[in-house]
Amino acid sequence: MKIGGTLLAGPAEAALHGVLQVPGDKSMSHRSVMMAAVADGVTEISGFLPGEDCLATASMFECMGVSIEWLNAEKTALRVQGAGLHGLQAPDRILDAGNSGTCARLMLGLLAGQPFASTLTGDESLRRRPMRRVIEPLRRMGANITASGDGDLLPLTIQGGSLSGIDFESEVASAQVKSCVLLAGLYARGDTRVREPRPTRDHTERMLPLFGQPVGECDGWIVLHPSGELRAPEDVLTIPADPSSAAFFAVAATIVPGSEVMLTNIGINPRRDGWRRILTAMGADLETSREYAVGEEPVADIRACCRQKLAGVKVAALDVPDAIDEFPILFVAASLADGVFMLRGASELRVKESDRIAVMAGALRAMGAEIEEWPDGLQIHGRPRLKGGVEVDAHGDHRVAMAMAVAAQMADAPVLIHNAAAIATSFPGFVEQAQSIGMNVRWLEE
Ligand code: S3P
Repeated sequence: MKIGGTLLAGPAEAALHGVLQVPGDKSMSHRSVMMAAVADGVTEISGFLPGEDCLATASMFECMGVSIEWLNAEKTALRVQGAGLHGLQAPDRILDAGNSGTCARLMLGLLAGQPFASTLTGDESLRRRPMRRVIEPLRRMGANITASGDGDLLPLTIQGGSLSGIDFESEVASAQVKSCVLLAGLYARGDTRVREPRPTRDHTERMLPLFGQPVGECDGWIVLHPSGELRAPEDVLTIPADPSSAAFFAVAATIVPGSEVMLTNIGINPRRDGWRRILTAMGADLETSREYAVGEEPVADIRACCRQKLAGVKVAALDVPDAIDEFPILFVAASLADGVFMLRGASELRVKESDRIAVMAGALRAMGAEIEEWPDGLQIHGRPRLKGGVEVDAHGDHRVAMAMAVAAQMADAPVLIHNAAAIATSFPGFVEQAQSIGMNVRWLEE
């Protein structure tokens, strides 16, 4: 967990107004640099997320001999000189994925194909997160892996080499697991086929074809027939703004009376769009305009307004993977809605950057919310306003910290949010953007 960083937040003094472009999509930023690093040729990427998570991915490739040139000071544009599928060099140090599950798990897929051994670790939070879900399929494909914590945890050492394609039926609905296996499949003899219990975000499947590697579908299986190379795309690879970051401001604008906020160039891929479906079902006023495509990804502007009180809903099981990262902020919306909000089938939330069911329930209860917790979800009875004058702990989880900063806008007094520094992993500039629309939030000097 990333310790430190205290936010002083709320309450909002007036309605929120403004136009925001949140930073680039985290999932796509990781994938773009990974694919570019093992492609032949030079890939130019724009809209990259310069958060700590994605920078960890970029610097891992630099450790393995890939040359990355940053094209601006903000690190949102870069040029990657690809090493080719077989051109990575053995790293001269332990690879550190920091706080990022996506970096660790997808990277393992690529490392499984390398003819050298590497050791991968992460921060305290990542070292608690389950890795067996990717270790097992990679072993079946032929990788040799020794992991800590009874074989389920980082740090782990992986010796890759000659892999064979497998048919893999994942027990968890996880895009990280699916993507890990597909990336390893690039190096395998024969086809790799993955089936998931529920559809998850498909950025890997949409992006690989831009690098000349088709991904097919047959009878519910995702099929990768390895072409033996990735080729850098001729056009600049542009990454849309991250819907997971936009969701914080969309909820803020739907709960603070009189607000209207426009969010531009937001990814609306259906596998990432569960938050909009759930929030709309709760009665939120969200309007899309200017729908267009960026590469293979659908994008739109989203206007969020506060016109009526939200109402609690029962979240459909199918919507869970499509909103998996947005539940912290959806719990905030639910705490201020009429009636009951119910979520089940979401035990994956317990193995994210923190146990997001327990941590969010604890923080929102401290603000007066009425919450019943289950192993796989929770139930929230909303109330008109939350209690301020309290201190809550974000437990080093970026999305908890940002969600609580939004919750505090509707509190009756300011709230202190401790251990919020991890916001920098996914949304550098969150506080400045929040202030620009009128949210009452600032960092406390420590
Ligand atoms: C991600 C997939 C999700 C999500 C994470 C990013 C990805 O994890 O929570 O923030 O980029 O593939 P799971 O697929 O493990 O649920």
